Amino acid sequence: MPARSATLPLIALDGPSGVGKSTTARGVARALGWDYLDTGAMYRAVTLAVTRAGTDPADQAALNRVLADLSLALEGSRVFLAGEDVSEAIRSPEVTRAVSRVSAEPRVREVMVEQQRAIGQRGRWVVDGRDIGTVVFREACCKIFLTASPEARAHRRYLELDAKGSAPTFEEVLADLQRRDAADSTRAVAPLRKADDALELDSSHLSLEAVVAQIVDHHRLHG
Ligand code: DC
Repeated sequence: MPARSATLPLIALDGPSGVGKSTTARGVARALGWDYLDTGAMYRAVTLAVTRAGTDPADQAALNRVLADLSLALEGSRVFLAGEDVSEAIRSPEVTRAVSRVSAEPRVREVMVEQQRAIGQRGRWVVDGRDIGTVVFREACCKIFLTASPEARAHRRYLELDAKGSAPTFEEVLADLQRRDAADSTRAVAPLRKADDALELDSSHLSLEAVVAQIVDHHRLHG
């Protein structure tokens, strides 16, 4: 355990796709009056840049060119690439399909982690992702690993997509989540895993309010 003085005012919230991390993180940030950093949105923005450039992520020279030109900015919940608001574009099915592959590239992770550390250096942040407690902010004062069964996660995602009018079947949504779980937790660099000092919270049978309240309580007692 790092010394108390070495801890940062950061809540690291990690977990698999579709577990409700971003809604939870936003709720915790609001309850504490802290800022919220969505690192998944950053990986999605790089993926959009890679896709638009027609780059094969395995082509290191081409990938390095995209990364060198990358001008990524976050303002509240909006995401900008070279000044263009891409907040909706980064949620497209095309980006969602490609993001695991792009985010598995070590160079991409290096650049993203550097930017995340620069952002987190100042202020108080709730940061959600896959490797926040294990890699990016190992000194975070509070770490949460949020889980839910694949079926519970797929059910929530299915309802969300259905409300938006896109119509994949429940089985398609579940298969997509399981594919991303496998890719995110078996990749060589920074795979999804619980940090030893993280609190594991299973949200399968909990409301959003209950999950937020448990995290806020845990932070007040142990943060
Ligand atoms: O949280 P999300 O589903 O928007 O994240 C999109 C993808 O980005 C996800 O498939 C894994 C990747 N990701 C990552 O590798 N590391 C993070 N810290 C955050 C997201």
